[in-house]
Amino acid sequence: MRFGIIGAGPIGSIISKKLVKNGHDVKIADARGVERLEGKEFAGTAVRVEDVIKNIEVLIISLPIKALPSIRNIIDQVGEEVIIIDTSNYYPFRDGKIEEIENGMVESVWASNQLGRPIIKAFNNLLAYTLENEGTSEDSSERIAMAVAGNDPSQKQVVMDIVYELGFDAVDSGSLSDSWRQQPGTPAYCTELTKDELTKALKKANKEKAPLLRDKVMERFAELLAEKKGVEFSHNDIVNINREIYNS
Ligand SMILES: NC(=O)c1ccc[n+]([C@@H]2O[C@H](COP(=O)([O-])OP(=O)(O)OC[C@H]3O[C@@H](n4cnc5c(N)ncnc54)[C@H](OP(=O)(O)O)[C@@H]3O)[C@@H](O)[C@H]2O)c1
Repeated sequence: MRFGIIGAGPIGSIISKKLVKNGHDVKIADARGVERLEGKEFAGTAVRVEDVIKNIEVLIISLPIKALPSIRNIIDQVGEEVIIIDTSNYYPFRDGKIEEIENGMVESVWASNQLGRPIIKAFNNLLAYTLENEGTSEDSSERIAMAVAGNDPSQKQVVMDIVYELGFDAVDSGSLSDSWRQQPGTPAYCTELTKDELTKALKKANKEKAPLLRDKVMERFAELLAEKKGVEFSHNDIVNINREIYNS
């Protein structure tokens, strides 16, 4: 398939490498200028953001959520038939407070409104490390699953098939307005679950508690960093803290 990616942070870059490895055609752009791609580790062809949207079937947007309004003029030119995937998550300490989300609007509904287009929410509930290193063949009983939400069933199926091909099971997590169930602070978020476990975790999510638990995890990481005097914790430590707090 023909993909465009906007954003060459860890997630955009890892997706680009996996797609190219699987034989897909990939173009990648930085929203703030092609020169910002220099020195970054991605696969595919580096292009200007104006060109990344041309002659593609799927556009993957992997930017900080606060940056989405800045690409509205580009998204306005994306062909109707192109499936748009958004990977973003909202962290107020990093993104600044977005009032509508603070007042209860589902993050991806806000994202879709900013872009002026329907989106499929995917690649948001696995850590970059998980996405890069923990995909497995389809016969593995421990295969990790990713949540995929969106309003168009056929677009969602295409995205679920891509996720499957890249090494993960996919769970249909409902419409975009259901996608709060895979936001930061929920049991489904970055906890490395199998398909059955993820299906249960999505049901267990609590909308009111999620922002509190999201912030509690950040506080726990800050405490641990202070205790360990800057020594970094492992990927397993991160997953275990997420599991403990998001299930509390
Ligand atoms: N990292 C994870 O484990 C993870 C997991 C799942 C989902 N996500 C979500 O996926 C999205 C991408 O995350 P990421 O960690 O891959 O990378 P990121 O640090 O959010 O950066 C992604 C890209 O956005 C660019 N960028 C940063 N600020 C920008 C701005 N104000 N305007 C336009 N472009 C800007 C970056 O360019 P520069 O490098 O030049 O700054 C980079 O190319 C985020 O919304 C994140 O919350 C992350």
